[in-house]
Amino acid sequence: MADKRFSDIKIHRYDAVVVGAGGAGLSAALYASDYGNVAVISKLYPTRSHTGTAQGGIAAALGNLDEDHWEWHSYDTVKGSDYLADQDAVDVLTKSAVDAVIRLEHMGLPFNRTPDGKIAQRRFGGHTNNVTGEPVRRACYAADRTGHMILQTLYQQAIKKGIHFYDEFQVIDLIIQDNIVRGVVAYEIDTGELHIFHAKAVNFATGGWGRIFKVTSNAHTLTGDGPAIAWRKGLPLEDMEFFQFHPTGMYKLGILITEAVRGEGGILRNRYGERFMEKYAPHIKDLASRDVVSRAIYMEIREGRGIDGKDYVYLDTTHLGKEVIEKRLPDIADFCRTYLHIDPVTQPIPVHPTAHYAMGGIPVNIDTNVIMDGNNTPVTGFFAAGETSCISVHGANRLGTNSLVELASYGMISGLRMGEFIKSAKLEPLPDDPAGYAIEQLEGILHSSGDEKPGQIRKEMQQIMMDNVSVFRTQELMEEAKAKLEELKERFKRISIQDKGKRFNTDLLEAWELSNLLDIAYATTVSALNRTESRGAHSREDYPKRDDVNWLKHTLVYKEGENKVRFDYKPVVILRYQPKERVY
Ligand code: FUM
Repeated sequence: MADKRFSDIKIHRYDAVVVGAGGAGLSAALYASDYGNVAVISKLYPTRSHTGTAQGGIAAALGNLDEDHWEWHSYDTVKGSDYLADQDAVDVLTKSAVDAVIRLEHMGLPFNRTPDGKIAQRRFGGHTNNVTGEPVRRACYAADRTGHMILQTLYQQAIKKGIHFYDEFQVIDLIIQDNIVRGVVAYEIDTGELHIFHAKAVNFATGGWGRIFKVTSNAHTLTGDGPAIAWRKGLPLEDMEFFQFHPTGMYKLGILITEAVRGEGGILRNRYGERFMEKYAPHIKDLASRDVVSRAIYMEIREGRGIDGKDYVYLDTTHLGKEVIEKRLPDIADFCRTYLHIDPVTQPIPVHPTAHYAMGGIPVNIDTNVIMDGNNTPVTGFFAAGETSCISVHGANRLGTNSLVELASYGMISGLRMGEFIKSAKLEPLPDDPAGYAIEQLEGILHSSGDEKPGQIRKEMQQIMMDNVSVFRTQELMEEAKAKLEELKERFKRISIQDKGKRFNTDLLEAWELSNLLDIAYATTVSALNRTESRGAHSREDYPKRDDVNWLKHTLVYKEGENKVRFDYKPVVILRYQPKERVY
């Protein structure tokens, strides 16, 4: 039954549209706007984007406090990735990080300073002096609000440049025909109307999908919209099995307690007060890479050494002193007081791992152009940047602070490459019925009158993903998760929503977001089942070893039908660093 509400569709024309207004989207828009007219479409008001919650820092080998080199940053990134990162892309990242930080400084970002006025730097997990193996101060920071400052700074620049923003517009579909992207279809949240953005180029910078899990540091909005849209259009997703759990989420709430706490000297302790990381990473201890620390916390908990035998450990900050905590970690102090009713100056913080970051995503080449197969065949006019993309600089496990580097460095590169593209490309015609599939999805939800509640389906999905596909995995657990997800996808066809109205229909949008989460959870689970080894954040108890002979390759997963997927693979780019055993 056709719904009249979607009969009047407005059409806008731009050279390029960027979907998402976090750090990657804003960077891409800023640099593309020198080449043509660019619009940014965001389901949020831009400064509410999730970049704003990044806390501890942005890595760059400035060497302001310790000797450092971009090559050391490259090596640490590759080692942290468990050798799955593409080393050509990593070199671009770490070399350009230095300029990216200086650019942000010149845009006005208020970094903390050393006594002699340089950008201050702190330690972070996995960032080392490659000669001594000791932690190196590489993370440039603005207290524990680095992401917030980056987001505000980039947004101000975008406003100054006159970039056109469509705030609170939810992109529902990508318009693509003959492997050429022609725009997107978006739902205006305020009015319930549909809009077509007809463009030469589209850039997806829609962030992550931590909301597939029950305990996560990710905002409610991180529902994998971009990758789900692309996947339904027949494009592959890369390395979906690799999802990072940040070691220190606030107990039960999952809210991020920045790694900068450990960078400033915080120590993880079990119920006996033992500094247990000495056992798991004798050299670098609490500043090992995140996969290593998250597994260590779970082992302590499993073996009964969680606090009071429960499922958390302590992050001890009581020896840091009030001045360090108030000056360098003020938000963390506030969060602890507000949400946990404790004072980190005098009390340890209860923490456990929290779903934090997707290493996989929409596959792109080194120019951030989306690719459609293992031969790197580009999709004309389609770009992706930031967490939603997989370039791959993080491989199987990202180092802390490298996400902010990626959005600043590759966000800019994405804008420049897209700019060069729109300069010579022509606007390709829209296909017949360009909004048809978007309408079908929205009407499907509006008119469905079954007895299933989206909220219940979401809860069951998050629980099974948390229990069966998180830090430790086995075939049996994941088979169970796969079957459960298939059941939930079936039940999703029988949902009903209460709000049938047009204005701010969050019932409708949350149900649509749930359809994305279900697809993305499915892609994650089948990719994890497929990879029969342990590497980085993908830790299989039934295949505990890394297997470079069979698995030193990227996974591409395609949606081929309701519960049918196909796998393809892409080689890892290896330059200077041959895979070897990781020791921290
Ligand atoms: O711990 C943190 O501040 C998080 C940083 C990151 O994920 O890069």
